[in-house]
Amino acid sequence: MRAKRMMFGAMIALVLLVAGCVGISSGPATPPFAETSPAVTTAPAATEAPGSTEAAPTPDPAAPPAAEAPAVSQEPQTTATVDAAVTAPPTTAPLPTAPPAPTASAAPTETPAPTAEPVAPTEPAAIACVPGALTPTQTEGPYYTANPPETNSLFQPGMNGTRLLLTGYVLDQACQPLPGARVDFWQADAAGVYDNTGYTLRGFTLTDAEGRYSMETVVPGEYPGRTPHIHVKVTPPGGATLTSQLYLPDAVANATDRIFSPALVVEIAQGADGLVGSFNFVVAGR
Ligand SMILES: [Fe+2]
Repeated sequence: MRAKRMMFGAMIALVLLVAGCVGISSGPATPPFAETSPAVTTAPAATEAPGSTEAAPTPDPAAPPAAEAPAVSQEPQTTATVDAAVTAPPTTAPLPTAPPAPTASAAPTETPAPTAEPVAPTEPAAIACVPGALTPTQTEGPYYTANPPETNSLFQPGMNGTRLLLTGYVLDQACQPLPGARVDFWQADAAGVYDNTGYTLRGFTLTDAEGRYSMETVVPGEYPGRTPHIHVKVTPPGGATLTSQLYLPDAVANATDRIFSPALVVEIAQGADGLVGSFNFVVAGR
């Protein structure tokens, strides 16, 4: 009987022990699950933010500095730029087709500026002549000697006076040169004296193919009543003889000479060996 009581008591104690264990494990279990559940829902949002491109436009005070966010997003752009640089046409390609910039070498295409004076005309100087204006005739005077020598120089060695080279043309009324015209000169010497026994300072010449003549002589001197002058006879081939006189431009006695004519003044220039006188005769042709 006593053993039964002890068995019964042990059973009760075991029941109570089991009951107590069950009550401890089921009571306080709910609170810990309720606290951990919110942590699970927020975790995914935190992991998506760095990779999301939509988070960038909405600045968050808690977010990292704005300067850093673009740095991450610019990396793809930099890559795209590099890719574009590789695939796009080179920017230097159009340059060869563009017109070359003007350089110093283009200068020769421009019209060269004149660097020299115009070339002087090679045509002969115009002949001073007025058509139809015959050379005035004048008196022969008392000192002409027939049959003078043909020469182009009346000057002789040792002759006193200023040397004078007379040149010019013999022309017809139309101012055309007369080749082969005879031009006969006689004159006084530098002292105003004629050689009436010989042919000193007397002689004639013929015009050349261009109608030009030349005679070397000396400047004549004055004698009483006359300014310095040179007598002349011009005879064109087959034509009438023109008798006249020539004068010097700066002779003082020209103003008082009764025969002097300005139309018969020689144009004088200084030459290497003396004076050079120019005068064109215009005579009636054949
Ligand atoms: Fe004379």
